Amino acid sequence: MAKLPILLYPSPIIRKRSLPVASIHGELQRFIDDMVETMYAAPGVGLAAPQVGALKRVIVLDPHEDRKPSRLLTLINPEIVAADGKIVEEEGCLCLPDLKEGVARFNRVVVKAYDRNEKEIVLEGSGLLARILQHEIDHLNGVLFIDRLSTAKRQLLNRRLKKAGRERGLG
Ligand code: CO
Repeated sequence: MAKLPILLYPSPIIRKRSLPVASIHGELQRFIDDMVETMYAAPGVGLAAPQVGALKRVIVLDPHEDRKPSRLLTLINPEIVAADGKIVEEEGCLCLPDLKEGVARFNRVVVKAYDRNEKEIVLEGSGLLARILQHEIDHLNGVLFIDRLSTAKRQLLNRRLKKAGRERGLG
């Protein structure tokens, strides 16, 4: 396994739409192992493939503090099929280090996906699990949590991000 570099905002790759995975072959299995290692090392509670430069519809997540490998979820071609409730909680992203903002999300989602063994699974999550699922599936569509903030908040933040980008020489 190998730790992969995480792309930082404003990388253009994290703004692209990822493509569905057609077959779960050996190379993809190794890539998923690398994603898992990268997520735990970050440390993060979730990671989407485009964050490490691969435009594939794959996410890994582990919302539990204890980090037992049995809690790890790998979802391939995940799709939200039902959602309800609304809740605002603070959220961050490995592509935008040091930034935390309150984001409104569904409180409960039902997600359909394939696991690593090509088995179709249906997963229901609420609270933190629901939040991570929505955040990571957004990544597969090139959407970042800052896109989900109010217009006023986003404008304020854009100015801050541009300034930080200039200071890092990113323009
Ligand atoms: Co993120």
